[in-house]
Amino acid sequence: MDQNDHSHLNPAKGYSAINAEPRVRPDELAAFVENVFLRIGMDEASSKAVTRVMMHGSRLGVDSHGVRLLAHYIKEIDGNCINKQPKPKFTRTRPGAGVLDGDNGHGGFVATVAMDHAIALAREAGIGAVAIQRSNHFGAAGAYPMQAVEAGLIGLSTCNTDAFVHLHGSKLPFHGTNPFAIGAPVAGQRPWLLDFATSSIPVNRVMLYRSLGIGVPPDTAVDSEGKPTTDSQRATGLLPLGGTLFGFKGAGLGGLAEVLSAALTGMRASVDIPAWDSVGKPRELGQFVLAIDPEAFVPRAVYDGIMTGYLASLRGMEPAEGAEPPMAPGDREWRIEEERKLNGIPIDPATFRVFAEAGERFGLTPPKVLQGNA
Ligand SMILES: NC(=O)c1ccc[n+]([C@@H]2O[C@H](COP(=O)([O-])OP(=O)(O)OC[C@H]3O[C@@H](n4cnc5c(N)ncnc54)[C@H](O)[C@@H]3O)[C@@H](O)[C@H]2O)c1
Repeated sequence: MDQNDHSHLNPAKGYSAINAEPRVRPDELAAFVENVFLRIGMDEASSKAVTRVMMHGSRLGVDSHGVRLLAHYIKEIDGNCINKQPKPKFTRTRPGAGVLDGDNGHGGFVATVAMDHAIALAREAGIGAVAIQRSNHFGAAGAYPMQAVEAGLIGLSTCNTDAFVHLHGSKLPFHGTNPFAIGAPVAGQRPWLLDFATSSIPVNRVMLYRSLGIGVPPDTAVDSEGKPTTDSQRATGLLPLGGTLFGFKGAGLGGLAEVLSAALTGMRASVDIPAWDSVGKPRELGQFVLAIDPEAFVPRAVYDGIMTGYLASLRGMEPAEGAEPPMAPGDREWRIEEERKLNGIPIDPATFRVFAEAGERFGLTPPKVLQGNA
């Protein structure tokens, strides 16, 4: 396939959601993924939590961090990185603060448990922050603020991960793609949900593009010599958010993720984290979640009124010539979610092959391809 053919992607949708066929039903997909985890020996709580987090990605069009991570997680479980029956231990240290030892459980489970604690702290103290120790990859960061939003609170999550992102002007990678996600509830509407890597694109998007045989967008990636490339096969590092000209801002944000995920947890900085695909022992990642109760600051009606008014103004702004109407963070995802509810979730070819292998290994039937999309 021509690497410059981006017809599988919609640049107007931020190069994120794939339009690849075939498509499958969301409920069948979730049941299949959860059953794979159960059959591989993960306990029920972990299997459920990790499936919810992966489906958050696949339902909302964050395909880099949806069900395509199944192969990676199976590899990590087989490779003794992930404790299949973890017993996370929470220690409250101050009224609104605590530390969760994740017991090397799957990051999707550990961070879910951490956000539950942060929510409980915020209900009592107004804000609740939890530093997470000994976790694993937690997928789409946006899945955790959604827990807070569902409880009527503002939520934030972040993590650091192995070095793949160059500093502004560095020859070698230094930070991970260190994402941040912040969600804020909006009365009677879907939330404001900002969820982003501090590189222009996440590593898993590079992997997804490789699977689709297409190139990465310009000014996002570099090759092993640190030279800009759009070839997804040759991309060995990423530029920080802001690209060649303004990458110092993305690098600064990536550094903030290190402060919260390493310095506040006692875990490692990105440069010392074992590679994403290394196996044999737990990666012991640090992560951080925060919940804020708006009512600790203003009456609910004030918060609700300002959020709805702000978003109505934002969405009502006149588009620049030839541009789509402005969106709030999350709007793109809520639209994709509605479309996928109707038409199913697209699965990239490599992930479909993983489903077939996992189906055979665990005696499960992979989700059926929807008619007309084979
Ligand atoms: N676990 C990890 O180690 C890790 C590392 C990196 C990234 N990730 C995840 O990768 C996923 C994808 O990250 P990304 O940086 O590619 O996200 P992205 O660039 O696709 O989107 C970033 C944010 O911008 C918003 N947005 C997009 N287009 C917009 C527009 N036109 N107007 C207004 N807002 C718009 C989206 O709603 C989203 O909140 C995220 O879920 C992130 O958490 C995870």
